[in-house]
Amino acid sequence: MKFFEEKRREVMKHIEKFMLEKMNEYLKPIDTIWQPSDFLPDASRDTFFSEIKELQESAKGLSYDLVAVLIGDTITEEALPTYESWLTMVEGVSDDEEGGWMKWTRHWTAEENRHGDLLNKYLYLTGRVDMRAMEVSTQYLIADGFDIGTGHDPYRNFIYTSFQELATNVSHRRVASQAKKAGDTLLSKMCGVIAGDEARHAKAYKYFIERTFEVDPNEAMLAFEDMMRKKIVMPAHFLREVGLKIGQTFGHFTDAAQRLGIYTAIDYVDILKELIADWHIASITDLKEDGEKARDYIMALPDRLLRVADRMKNPMLEYKFSWING
Ligand SMILES: [Fe+2]
Ligand SMILES: [Fe+2]
Repeated sequence: MKFFEEKRREVMKHIEKFMLEKMNEYLKPIDTIWQPSDFLPDASRDTFFSEIKELQESAKGLSYDLVAVLIGDTITEEALPTYESWLTMVEGVSDDEEGGWMKWTRHWTAEENRHGDLLNKYLYLTGRVDMRAMEVSTQYLIADGFDIGTGHDPYRNFIYTSFQELATNVSHRRVASQAKKAGDTLLSKMCGVIAGDEARHAKAYKYFIERTFEVDPNEAMLAFEDMMRKKIVMPAHFLREVGLKIGQTFGHFTDAAQRLGIYTAIDYVDILKELIADWHIASITDLKEDGEKARDYIMALPDRLLRVADRMKNPMLEYKFSWING
């Protein structure tokens, strides 16, 4: 076990150099990147109330499920304290408070923080949301934390974040296009810029794992296999509403996302395929016997999951969320 941790730390030190070189590409300069107020009505202007009226008019066209998904996405983004505290627990991150990985964690958190901020203000202004009910869910989700099966292992963690950043990119992008179709161009723009951030983050985490495969292929392969056997759980899997038990709302949220085609079982497989291609899994050699087996398992997984997805029925059960007015 000692060796395991030491090796992880050594590899993290090794990737840190590459990360620092690329940091300005993967995280944008703070002074010039977009901020929530670039998109929202400005309360200091005389036109404030008419702008809100306009915002509310366009938000009326969003379907019930789309609003529900957007609220779930917002709560997921707002549970950011959970993700930051968890990243600092990863082996090799907080050894040095002023070190590169802590810097990465703080700057990544700072970028992500804008997402929940923007969506929350937008939802508040639409008038369609029971903000108190939503806020209760957010507080619960942060208090409940999550259990994503990565332990403190940097490989498993960065495999998880690679997957999750791609997943959030897909879902924000789809909300953007459905909002546009429904006539809400403001929401569409907002989700579009958020999706852009997520795409950049995905590139970063994928890059860290790519570097890891170069120096520790067998352990990286085993970590990838392990995460895929456990299945990548969503960060909001403990989602609940007032009066409900831990995790009880989550299934309704993912059902709505699946029904609308915002994030589906097929997307899960597509993300897996992208990771397999980008990490050149098929052509990685230098593996021990268990690593070879892990690679075979991973390579066969997309087809297996597609067969399962084929048999899955679209969840039709509609659900009344406490978050939505009326
Ligand atoms: Fe985000
Ligand atoms: Fe992100």
